[in-house]
Amino acid sequence: MIHLKNISVHFKQKNREVHAVKNVSLEVESGDIYGIVGYSGAGKSTLVRIINLLQHPTDKSSEVIVDGKNLLSLSQKELRKERKKIGMIFQHFNLMASRTIADNVAFPLRNSGLSKAEKEEKVEKLLDLVGILDKKNSYPIQLSGGQKQRVAIARALANDPKILLCDEATSALDPKTTLSILELLKEVNQKLGITIVIITHEMQVVKEICNKVAVMENGNIIESGNVVDIFNQPKQALTRDFIRTATHIEQAEKKILSHTKEQVYELKFSGRHTADPIIVEIYKRFGIVADILYGNIEFLQETMIGTLFVTLEGKVELNELEAYLAEQDVTITKINKKT
Ligand SMILES: Nc1ncnc2c1ncn2[C@@H]1O[C@H](COP(=O)(O)OP(=O)(O)O)[C@@H](O)[C@H]1O
Ligand SMILES: [Mg+2]
Repeated sequence: MIHLKNISVHFKQKNREVHAVKNVSLEVESGDIYGIVGYSGAGKSTLVRIINLLQHPTDKSSEVIVDGKNLLSLSQKELRKERKKIGMIFQHFNLMASRTIADNVAFPLRNSGLSKAEKEEKVEKLLDLVGILDKKNSYPIQLSGGQKQRVAIARALANDPKILLCDEATSALDPKTTLSILELLKEVNQKLGITIVIITHEMQVVKEICNKVAVMENGNIIESGNVVDIFNQPKQALTRDFIRTATHIEQAEKKILSHTKEQVYELKFSGRHTADPIIVEIYKRFGIVADILYGNIEFLQETMIGTLFVTLEGKVELNELEAYLAEQDVTITKINKKT
């Protein structure tokens, strides 16, 4: 659905040059909810603005293919038509303060050729879809942040896009409102079959709704793949950091390490496994008593990922234990105090 090839973006300013995106390639399939996660300044917004050519790549070898069309080869008129297939929402909603909610949503339909009545019907349908039909005659200032983002989503869907780009769409919202907006985006993806690209600095958002994720650092995509695989086996330190923060494991680890003098081990398991049999088997086979200090289970697209922090009592031959656990698809890692 979206194929970005060798995308580079240089910004030239008076006395410095910023290489915001460095030869990045990205493939988003139809139906994906694709997360792009990274800290501020990583290049996420610049990369996503390439998808609708709000930002042009600065390297000649770049290719931007969206829904089968090479956007860089189109005329202005053709590009305008293709852009209608791509909706976008932002952190600060970008609504027009002087217009009603209904007029905000109707705005993208001004050149659509629809009659006044047809436009009205469409706007009502969209406002109903996002759950704020009762606000249609209100003004943005009368709405909460979550409600404003619902309006922005309705507006972004007005031209029946195939793709929705979300740039930090929940970053200005409280956690509960964030979840409700993410639910709505999931519904938009499933009911309307719209492919979604979500930029965020919070792995929590990725965990809630994405099936794929790319991690960006310093203009590069350093790791990408299925969310379940990445959460199971992150390869890069930055990815690990994001995941441990999102799953609250980092906080738990800090607390545990400050309260125990014994060696702590982390066990990670996924899929069909549950904690109990592992603990029982470790005792039966090795005579080791595992004392559970902390446990956490995440569900990612119905797949379970479990984490246990334990201390081990008995004669621990780590290599043997590790080998046995590996057969069960369980990893064991020594947790050391960070200095
Ligand atoms: N229009 C611009 N002109 C100059 N520098 C820019 C521009 N847009 C972004 N940058 C720079 O490019 C880098 C990446 O920015 P951005 O894509 O906004 O990152 P992110 O969305 O991950 O926070 C930053 O160093 C930023 O300052
Ligand atoms: Mg940004």
